[in-house]
Amino acid sequence: MFNAPEIQPAGIDRMPLRRVLPREQLDSLSKDILALKRKLNAVILAHNYQVPEIQDVADVVGDSLGLAQHAAKTNADVIVFCGVHFMAETAKILNPGKIVILPDKDAGCSLEESCPGSKLKALQDTNPNFWTIAYINCSAEVKALSDCICTSGNAVKIVNAAPKDRDILFVPDENLGGWVMEQTGRPMTLWKGDCYVHVEWTHQAITRIRQLHPDAPVVAHPECPKAVRMLADEVCSTEKMVTWCKRTPSKDIIIATEAGMLHRLKKECPDKNFIPAPTDCCACNECRFMKMNTLEKLHDCMVNLAPRIELPREILERARLPIERMLEISARG
Ligand code: 13P
Ligand code: SF4
Repeated sequence: MFNAPEIQPAGIDRMPLRRVLPREQLDSLSKDILALKRKLNAVILAHNYQVPEIQDVADVVGDSLGLAQHAAKTNADVIVFCGVHFMAETAKILNPGKIVILPDKDAGCSLEESCPGSKLKALQDTNPNFWTIAYINCSAEVKALSDCICTSGNAVKIVNAAPKDRDILFVPDENLGGWVMEQTGRPMTLWKGDCYVHVEWTHQAITRIRQLHPDAPVVAHPECPKAVRMLADEVCSTEKMVTWCKRTPSKDIIIATEAGMLHRLKKECPDKNFIPAPTDCCACNECRFMKMNTLEKLHDCMVNLAPRIELPREILERARLPIERMLEISARG
């Protein structure tokens, strides 16, 4: 196992307090955003972890895979990406000629931070037989160094499709990588990065909530540690959570992923009761990066057409192939 550089642990002090605007102000901003969208011929793509008011003005709300698939086929002139930076970068790589903007350019990701391109290149140089699969939660530079990209929604399919004679190097999430190894039986070298939010769930905390709701199944994201995944009835991407929760006859469902997911789930399954899985400490199930985006910043980025994603041409070209390979494998029956 390769030791990734130390990631600064995220404490509660790193989570900014969110200011919620009065309803009338939210409504007025939403109206302006919809008008700007028509004027710019823009599409608003929002990840499932975005705050409710952003999800409610978006054209598409989904997981990383669904949003990348949508970005690949959009006719809009401007893509407004409400998620984190690497997601907007992916949209730009797929649409080099379009304007791609995001509400806050500092909305990063602990997984992306854990895997600098130079360190990945150094590891790749140790084994010419490596075939690098990069979880989409990484920089454009890392994508450009990879053979194929995957998301949590298609990682098993992507690993199953990898050339059998190559040694797979899976970066940067060791929890997702570990889960994929369990599902596919394929050994892989794992980069030692993690999502600072999902590692907050523990065996202890999940066991406690299960005792309180013995009939409620647990649905967990594969970025959770193995001890948590083992207690889950279903491990899947955020989009598959929606499908799974719609289908299950259970009324109460425990959800172990970022808190933004609950808004989408409640909207799609109004007859069900979603119980956010507690962490061992309080208020740790919000991603401070995802929560940097606000309705005001979304409005402002559409007025200013900035912050805008710009990438060097070489990176754009090299990163496109592994993303397109992912989309092609994903579309196979
Ligand atoms: P999805 O692949 O379900 O969109 O998850 C992305 C993510 O960042 C999870 O933390
Ligand atoms: Fe990255 Fe975790 Fe936030 Fe997802 S929830 S964007 S993996 S830090």
